[in-house]
Amino acid sequence: MHVIGGSASTALAERISRELGNVPFGIPFMKRFPDGELYLRVGGRVSGEDVVLVQSTRTDQDLIELFLLQDAIRQAGARRLFVVVPYYGYARQDRLFYPGEAVSARAIGRHIAIDADAVVTVDLHSPEILKGFPKPVFEASGIPAVARLLRERPVDLLVSPDKGGIERAKRMGGILEKPWMALEKRRIDSEHVELTLPKELPVPLEGKHIVIVDDVISTGGTIVEAARLLKRQRVGAITAACTHGLFLRDAFERIKAVTDAVFSTDTLDNPAEKASVAPDIAQILLGDMPAA
Ligand code: R5P
Repeated sequence: MHVIGGSASTALAERISRELGNVPFGIPFMKRFPDGELYLRVGGRVSGEDVVLVQSTRTDQDLIELFLLQDAIRQAGARRLFVVVPYYGYARQDRLFYPGEAVSARAIGRHIAIDADAVVTVDLHSPEILKGFPKPVFEASGIPAVARLLRERPVDLLVSPDKGGIERAKRMGGILEKPWMALEKRRIDSEHVELTLPKELPVPLEGKHIVIVDDVISTGGTIVEAARLLKRQRVGAITAACTHGLFLRDAFERIKAVTDAVFSTDTLDNPAEKASVAPDIAQILLGDMPAA
């Protein structure tokens, strides 16, 4: 097996190669043509080998790079190509809300599937994307990775900022053997939310170390509001934790200002303290891939 890391996921790809038993790891040669188009070439002897390609698709450029890498690896004669997309961009629109819209999660999935024997991703925005995916698709969770980081620290309560994320807080609570709860969230617009406490609290909040767990932090609006609400209850310390840390614009600084620590997994590069999902992805690659 060989692992190739795209430019959006080089460090994670190398970690995955180590978790797979120090299998060969490489990065492609890339350059831009004068008109800005991307040229790339993969090295190493991948002919007849199973290849794991790792590339998050946070930007449109990341997506183009992924498609070109898939083509190059196929051309180079790989036996099977397993495509790992740690952060799957365009996942928010997973269904039709108004006639005439594109269902971006499905459209991107179709294109990734063209040159893939299986796809592995992490904490998708919605399980809808898995339904009808044109190739075998596997979803790792970022929760065990963040839990590994939290295990040695004092934690009293896991909090999901909305009811939709309660399973994440519950799973983390299960691993750490701590209680969990969900806040009530009302979205005002794409950057602002209104949060309230549930009627019944699993533990009194005053003085407690609270971990707010979310799948993705984008503008930071949700986490900042959650932290402010918890601070008003005079909690002892707040950690913000997520799988995918996009931290748009000044989101990281705004979250730092109202929390004591910020954790994310390594599906995306960002300044947060990192928990690696490499062991969780490697476990899927070693155990679940379809036969050649
Ligand atoms: C919502 O469904 C998600 O779980 C996150 O809570 C949300 O995407 C976070 O966005 P932001 O950081 O912009 O508040």
